[in-house]
Amino acid sequence: MPLKKDLSIDYLGVKCENPFFLSSSPVGSNYEMVAKAFESGWGGVFFKTIGIFIADECSPRFDNNVKEGTPWVGFKNMEQISDKPLEKNLEAIAKLKKDYPDKVMVATIMGSNDEEWKELSKLVTQAGADLIECNFSCPQMTSHAMGSDVGQSPDLVRQYSKAVSSVTHLPVIAKMTPNIGNMEIPAIAAIEGGAKGVSAINTIKAITNIDFEHMTAMPVVNGKSSISGYSGAAARPIGLRFIAQMKQHPDLKDIQMSGIGGIETWKDALEYILVGSTTVQVTTAVMQYGYRIVEDMISGLSYFMEEKGFNKVEDLVGLALPNIIPAENLDRDFKIIPHIDEEKCIGCGRCYVSCYDAAHQAIDWDEENRKPIINDNCVGCHLCLNVCPVHECITPGEVKFKEGRTPHDVALKTRYE
Ligand SMILES: Cc1cc2nc3c(=O)[nH]c(=O)nc-3n(C[C@H](O)[C@H](O)[C@H](O)COP(=O)(O)O)c2cc1C
Ligand code: SF4
Ligand code: SF4
Repeated sequence: MPLKKDLSIDYLGVKCENPFFLSSSPVGSNYEMVAKAFESGWGGVFFKTIGIFIADECSPRFDNNVKEGTPWVGFKNMEQISDKPLEKNLEAIAKLKKDYPDKVMVATIMGSNDEEWKELSKLVTQAGADLIECNFSCPQMTSHAMGSDVGQSPDLVRQYSKAVSSVTHLPVIAKMTPNIGNMEIPAIAAIEGGAKGVSAINTIKAITNIDFEHMTAMPVVNGKSSISGYSGAAARPIGLRFIAQMKQHPDLKDIQMSGIGGIETWKDALEYILVGSTTVQVTTAVMQYGYRIVEDMISGLSYFMEEKGFNKVEDLVGLALPNIIPAENLDRDFKIIPHIDEEKCIGCGRCYVSCYDAAHQAIDWDEENRKPIINDNCVGCHLCLNVCPVHECITPGEVKFKEGRTPHDVALKTRYE
């Protein structure tokens, strides 16, 4: 029996059984799907974005990137918002809340003017949603009055957050677009408009692959394609960066965040929590593997907390933030020479090639024994550690202080998971 700790957390005043949510997308777009997800263990759902209009979708609409035979390194979609009638979506939200009162229902909405945003806000409040998320971030809407074009305009974000908040008692969440340099600016505008929380990220505008047959991007829609949203594993570092940056901004540090982008495992989810997310959301990994991935998230986080002595998820929120500092404040007094474990080394030569061709020619090659030997050119960049295929064969070794710098204690990384 896997360990299952109490992972409950307060999110914008709503008690969540755990921090794991489906993000707004086809993975939570009707009653049956969400019911199954709830029964699989998800704490809540951000229901597929609802609008006044019904999306007219293209076919096909998905593509993925492959690296060294591994598919779904990143995933591209060209979907818009819900393709179901508004009444049907409202019915599903109401019935899900009635049948699963302990699960958290977040209605995600998108309008194209104040009236539509208000109308949708009222309707989902009446339907019994716990929270409302405003989709200011879909990058492939066919209307420029909607989606990421709105999210890139702080004025529109403020205006629509205000419109939505003015007609509901529910906490409102702004879902931000990563297709922007400083997410803090529209996020602050959302809070000024009355939003209480921020979700990030939605998908990143991208071209995944070029099709040589039709000389267009993928996927091919009658010989053509479009730039559209990228998600999945490749998006995680970008999502983490945006959440951390927002949480480090003085005007946003107390705002609860929901982290999204490339979460597949409990470790990915924990990373988002450690940079300041109260809840996390998932789509692409569910599209690839199904709802059951939440079991790993629940047991993995439970074991981690048990091992490290944490009793509440909220005690983990933002723990890494004080240690993520501006580049100019990093300690640059030393270099750490890598240590090569001769027993573990399989003599593949990858460290030698990478250091020679892409770093500092700091590894000599012992032809006879097929072993690398580090020489005095080493600058401690750790490219070799990154390319070595053997776990913990190359690790941080001797700390050498630069000339004229005062030696002091240096925290070393000792374990690579
Ligand atoms: C097929 C697909 C459809 C999506 N539809 C929506 C949507 O309707 N509303 C929305 O806010 N985000 C939508 N998203 C974005 C996801 O909710 C999420 O923000 C993004 O995919 C990053 O998370 P992931 O890497 O876990 O997929 C969609 C994503 C995908 C892949
Ligand atoms: S740390 Fe950098 S310079 Fe030193 S041996 Fe490794 S790759 Fe070469
Ligand atoms: S990459 Fe690792 S295993 Fe390969 S030669 Fe270098 S140290 Fe040995």
